[in-house]
Amino acid sequence: MDNILKTEKLINGLRGEITIPPDKSISHRALIFGALTNSKIKIKNLSKGEDCVSTLKILETLGVKYEFISEHDLILDSSKGLSAEKKVTLNCNNSGTSARLLSGLFSGCDFSCVLVGDDSLQKRPMKRIIAPLELMGAKIKSNDNKLPLEITGTKLKSITYHSPIASAQVKSALILAGLGIDEPTRIYEKTLSRNHSEVMLSYLGASIKIGQDKDGCFVEVKKSKLMPKDIEIVGDISSAAFFMVAAAIVPNSEIIIKNVGINPTRTGILDVFKQAEIDFSILNERKVSAELAADIKVKYTKNIKPFEIKGDLIPRLIDEIPILAVLATQAQGKSVVSDAQDLRNKESDRIKTIVDSFLNLGIGISEKPDGFIINGSSQINKMVSLETHLDHRLAMSYYVLSLINNQSMEISGFNCVNTSFPEFLKLMNKLKK
Ligand code: S3P
Repeated sequence: MDNILKTEKLINGLRGEITIPPDKSISHRALIFGALTNSKIKIKNLSKGEDCVSTLKILETLGVKYEFISEHDLILDSSKGLSAEKKVTLNCNNSGTSARLLSGLFSGCDFSCVLVGDDSLQKRPMKRIIAPLELMGAKIKSNDNKLPLEITGTKLKSITYHSPIASAQVKSALILAGLGIDEPTRIYEKTLSRNHSEVMLSYLGASIKIGQDKDGCFVEVKKSKLMPKDIEIVGDISSAAFFMVAAAIVPNSEIIIKNVGINPTRTGILDVFKQAEIDFSILNERKVSAELAADIKVKYTKNIKPFEIKGDLIPRLIDEIPILAVLATQAQGKSVVSDAQDLRNKESDRIKTIVDSFLNLGIGISEKPDGFIINGSSQINKMVSLETHLDHRLAMSYYVLSLINNQSMEISGFNCVNTSFPEFLKLMNKLKK
């Protein structure tokens, strides 16, 4: 299949209703925590993006059985537990969440494995999980703190850990390690990162304490038996974000996105939409397997105000920064992103890749060590070819930019959208008028 997408400007706007695919972060957790119930459970609305399929295949290699009963619903059978007779190689492909969360879990299991991944994942830092897991007694050999990771499962000891970064992957790796230990393991963060692990573990009846004291917010877990409850997954706000921004910047647009997860640790984009005075509303709020969900309506907004993203807001919208950079190109003034240095460690160095491609398109942007400044009010009028660097969120952000580019453009490596959102183009085409 051609991996270069040719795009063109959208004249008549996006209109109508779509249902957004399942949340990637919650899907990983449903599979992993589901596999720890030692029972048969039903998972409704699982993401079939390649990242979650990597987690599912790894669990299958370790003895978990599954059967899809419809497109996104499956029965997960972990009655035999997780095991491997000899050292197994487990492929995380592009998925940082699989590599980091499963490292935490496998460090305390009674088998050995080697976690490998694709070119992009092999460049991503793993010291953030290796260091605290080693404090718990984990035996991990790495390639200079990168993949492959050779993990020899062992009995772990509990720790109290003050995480230097607000990362849900680090927190969840340590939660998974702590779930097998009799004594409590406590993890502190200065700013709360996405809390889907905590929400799901409470839902499944684990021994988990959540709180806040002078050291920050913390989660504490200890050995727990998880109840075999069915889990339904809400739609992914990080996927909805591309449609929300597209509707806000393409004239004549008005869309409703159904069943979007609006857990407050993920809704930084809504705070930015308020700053930018985008015309949007939240409808039909409800709870689905303990997670908040709603429908989101967004209309084209002519006068978009510039905005600032920094500090505590960063973990609440970390994956939305590429698409919010696209929104900033249409604001009436300078928008600034700061405190986001961890963007350099994502599927690509998202600060550099965004700055390079925006300059290529003639958009006023300047790079900072921890973010960028975007001038706004950009008329985009350039025939260019942009490279995705195997980064799905860049690919979809460039696509949204192409909708307001007066010239046609090319996005090479576009197939990487399958990492999180295989249905992206189909849903875009459904809304195009
Ligand atoms: C994720 C956490 C975030 C996010 C990633 C998914 C998760 O990473 O960027 O796409 O599911 O826990 P960090 O925890 O490294 O910030």
